Parts: sequence; structure tokens; C-alpha cells
Amino acid sequence: MKTPLCRRLGCELPIFAFSHCRDVVVAVTKAGGFGVLGAATFSPEQLEAELRWIDQHVQGRHYGVDVIIPSAYDRQAEDASAQDLMAMIPQGHRQFMDDLLQKAGVPSLPSGERERITREIVEGRGSMTPEGARRLIQVALEHPQVRMVVSALGSPPPDVMALLREKNIVIGAMCGKAEHATRHLKAGVEVIVAQGTEAGGHTGEIATMVLVPQVVEACAGKAAVLAAGGIARGSQIAAALALGAQGVWCGTVWLGTRESELNPFEKQVFFETKTEDAVRRKARTGKTVRMIRSQLSEAWEQPGAPPYLPTPLQGILYNEAHARVVKAGRKELYSFPAGQVVGMIHEETTVKEVIYRMQVEYLEAVERLQALNPE
Ligand SMILES: Cc1cc2nc3c(=O)[nH]c(=O)nc-3n(C[C@H](O)[C@H](O)[C@H](O)COP(=O)(O)O)c2cc1C
Repeated sequence: MKTPLCRRLGCELPIFAFSHCRDVVVAVTKAGGFGVLGAATFSPEQLEAELRWIDQHVQGRHYGVDVIIPSAYDRQAEDASAQDLMAMIPQGHRQFMDDLLQKAGVPSLPSGERERITREIVEGRGSMTPEGARRLIQVALEHPQVRMVVSALGSPPPDVMALLREKNIVIGAMCGKAEHATRHLKAGVEVIVAQGTEAGGHTGEIATMVLVPQVVEACAGKAAVLAAGGIARGSQIAAALALGAQGVWCGTVWLGTRESELNPFEKQVFFETKTEDAVRRKARTGKTVRMIRSQLSEAWEQPGAPPYLPTPLQGILYNEAHARVVKAGRKELYSFPAGQVVGMIHEETTVKEVIYRMQVEYLEAVERLQALNPE
């Protein structure tokens, strides 16, 4: 399974794990894969604390950091303070969310807790602009075990490319169409994550099975391609490598692990969710995110709902409501980003068990293929 990209990054398995949870990043990396911390919801101070912890636990191995560098966002939000950002959310939008939760009987957060959560959300969401991402990258560069930086929602701008190259960091970018890959290549990106519509999180419309060969072709060997979206089993890894990818990039499969950031209530909803209930909606960030369908996600789709706010404002509004729903344990209102493979995961396992199972299933898939050509 070891591909040239594994050799370049110093990992044993071409299994890349995207996670916002440092425990997952460490567990995957220690198991031979390559953990990538999703940093976009952290303030620089929070990220510094997370990376320091990962450095201490990852036994000298390398890992990655993922930031969101959106090409479309609210430019006024770029330099806004936390207070300004809150003030930019229109009253009508707040009222809509509040009425919805009040009608459903979801209590408000107690005052101290509300302020703390709002502050954390606003500080974190403030990182979802190019300037915010630059601040996070500066933090990542202070940690020599960070070997790869990946940008989502756009190519890294030239100054960021130059900075990363100077530090010999492997530069990756997410892509949902072959055109994105061409743009990334022109910018000098070396690892392109071809993420199909099946994926959890911000996602496009093209399926992984169709996208990966298109991106491999567009890259023509000038960049390594990772396949993302709809991968939770070893047979799917075999398929991705057969399509020309140098590895797989998974997000949803880690959410059900013991190491994941989801609490027991959230995990239960996750284990019960069917594939068809992982839908693409804009309620969470203002951009299309594949997430668990709920009454909250659907309310924003109804006639009369306010228009979605631009990034990062919709995310600030949504996340406070989400914190209320989680605290109240209200399953029917719970939406969290998850890909279609959510319907294949029904119980908690450890990261190590997931990776072991993936390897066994991969070998079984390869044997099945070899049996087709016994000569
Ligand atoms: C909870 C969650 C949050 C995500 N947030 C981000 C993000 O901040 N940046 C990013 O590049 N990708 C993000 N993604 C997408 C992942 O990087 C990855 O491409 C995707 O999960 C792969 O498909 P899968 O969900 O089918 O495994 C997220 C995915 C999930 C499930």
C-alpha cells in the first residue's frame, strides 16, 4: 500500500485522516497513517495549544494542518473584531433561529456559558477568511513536525505558497472539479485532494468515482492525487488506488471512533443516520455542506426563511444554535457534517481498529482482483 507520497511524507499507509480532533490526528498518525488537523474553527491561540499537544503525543512523526482559504467570503468580516462580527448578523436572522428553537422547546444557554461558547465560535469562525488562514499558517510553521498544509475552498494565494515552500512544507488543496485541479496546479500545489460529493463537509456535485480519474488525468503526474468522499472500507481504498490516487483522505469514518470529538448523544445520532439522510445544505456555513438532515437544517430551506448569510456569519449563527441543541440532546434538530458513509457505521470502534480493518479489507479486495487473473 505504500505509495510515493507516503515515502515523501514519512508515513507507512496512504490513509490520510482529516479531523478537528487532536486525539484522532495522533491516533491515526501513530497507527501509520497521516493525521491532518482541521484548523479552520480554531483561533491562533487555540491552534497553538492543539499543535503543542499533538507534538508531544505523536512520537516524533509528521502530520498535517488544514485551513480554509475561501475565494468567496464576506470581505467586511476579514478584519472585523469578534464584537463586530456578532453585530454583522442581521436581527431578522437571529430572530428566525431563536424562534425556531424556542418553538421546539430548546432552552437558551445559561448566560455565562452562552458568552463563552459564542466567544469561542466567533474567534474560531474568524479564521475562515484568507487573513484568518494566514494567521493559522504562521502558527503551524512554528511546529516542525507539521509536514503538510492543505487549503480548502480555494488555492493558497502566492504569498502563502512562497512562505510554505520556503519552509519545505508539502502543499495540498481540496478540489471538487477537474478545473479546480488545473487552477491548483498552476498555483504550484503538489497534493490535490479530489473530494467527491459523497463527502461530509463542504462538497460539490461530482461523485468520487467520476472525479478521481478526471483529476488524475488533469494532474498528469505533476501532483499526487488523494481520493476523498465515500471511503470507509479497505475495498474502497483499493478502488481509489486503482483509479490512480496515491492515497485516501477520510473524514466521516473517524467521527464514530472512541477518539472522536462527538459526545455520546451525538455519536448515537451518527450511528443511527442512514446514507440518504446525509444531505447537502447551506444552513451550517452559508456554503453547501453535506450534513445530517434535521428539522434545523430543513427549516432554512423552507419558503420564508431568511437568505443564507455569507461565510463566516452563517457559521457563527448556526453554531450557537447547534450548541443549544447538543446541550438539550434533541436528536430531531441535530445536524453535523457527515458524508454518505455515515450509513455504514453503526458502533463505536477505536481509530486503530478502523485502520486495521481497512488494511485487512484492502488485502481481501486485492486478492479478489488477483483471483480474476490467476495466470
Ligand atoms: C465533520 C467534518 C468537517 C469537515 N471540515 C472540513 C474542513 O474544515 N476543511 C476541509 O478541507 N475539509 C473538511 N471536511 C471534509 C474532509 O476534509 C474530507 O474531505 C471528507 O470528510 C472526506 O469524505 P468522507 O466524509 O466521506 O470521509 C470535513 C468533513 C467532516 C466530516
